[in-house]
Amino acid sequence: MVAREIEDGIFWVGAIDWDRRLFDELIPLPNGTSYNAYLIRGSEKTALIDTVDPTKEYELISNLVRLGIERIDYIIINHAEQDHAGSLPMMLEIYPDAVIVTNEKCKDLLISLLHLPPEKFNVIGDRETLSLGDRTLEFLITPWTHWPETQLSFLREDRILFPCDLFGSHTATSDLFMKDERATYLSAKRYYAEIMMPFRGSIRGYVEKVRALSVNIIAPSHGPVYRNPSFILDAYTDWTSDAVKNEVVIPYSSMHGSTGKMVEYLTDALLARGVTVKPFNLSKTDVGELAMSLVDAATVVIATPTVLFGPHPQVVYATYLANLLKPKVRFASVIGSYGWGGKVVDTITKMIDHLKVELLEPVMVRGLPDEAAMRRLDRLADDILKKHKEINIV
Ligand code: FEO
Repeated sequence: MVAREIEDGIFWVGAIDWDRRLFDELIPLPNGTSYNAYLIRGSEKTALIDTVDPTKEYELISNLVRLGIERIDYIIINHAEQDHAGSLPMMLEIYPDAVIVTNEKCKDLLISLLHLPPEKFNVIGDRETLSLGDRTLEFLITPWTHWPETQLSFLREDRILFPCDLFGSHTATSDLFMKDERATYLSAKRYYAEIMMPFRGSIRGYVEKVRALSVNIIAPSHGPVYRNPSFILDAYTDWTSDAVKNEVVIPYSSMHGSTGKMVEYLTDALLARGVTVKPFNLSKTDVGELAMSLVDAATVVIATPTVLFGPHPQVVYATYLANLLKPKVRFASVIGSYGWGGKVVDTITKMIDHLKVELLEPVMVRGLPDEAAMRRLDRLADDILKKHKEINIV
């Protein structure tokens, strides 16, 4: 890759990871990703905003060499995770005079994660500034825009925000600036669901803080740069709001077809009542798609067969993940089948303690669902529609 200029004296110097297909050994990356680092030349000082994943550090170095950067005064670290800070040790070898500029919590984490010497740091606080001569960086301490040490950097004169993970998308693209709005929206929504959704409450406040800055450009550390900040700010305002949609998500597994028949029946029953349904067969689904569907849904129905005495392990995994992601879902239920007993409903309801949901009557059936079971599923569909009407989304 080559460095690319965003504005006069401000360059993208990161790396594109076209082939990466998994993040944190958990998150599928169907479109790869990028690790965006940025170089800012001031009249007196030069700053690098974030680094790249250590697997790509030679690309960062190559970009800097091609730009003829012989000295870096400051390396701003907005987030201690490896994909942004992991090339710091190499950068300090090449630019030994560089000072790492970050907040206290991030400094502590970087020392633990990378064994960096404490004297290399210049610690900044919320709303503190750093002069590069004719350009000024202002820092906003924003815990939990992924980890507790995260911060945003704002280049005042150019009105460019460097928010690191926040507002990003896992997309490998040769477009420096967003071109394909629809593709970027979906990619950013999936990314929000997987990474930012658990911190929805805090992030809603940060979005308003960013709006107050009147930024011209948002340059995140994954995916394309936004020349039209309201595109991503409006999307975040929607995703982080308390508003839910007339949608039901059904993550399910079926071993011998009984639970599958129940899911099929409930799906049809909900569709007939005008409710949007998103069933996810956990043997085939991409968990990123499932997470994305939970951003807006009013209701989740977890459907599982009984394995020995509890839910299917695939369903346990999906339920655990959904609970971690803390979507704004308002109602939940459990359906499925069993052979000789079990504690599926009890186990699953205990697993969703982070979800602030009202539990609707579960439907557990022995063996193959019969007519009586289908009537119970009709009643569940009626209940869901009634609840959606009560919160005025139908
Ligand atoms: Fe892109 Fe939280 O790292």
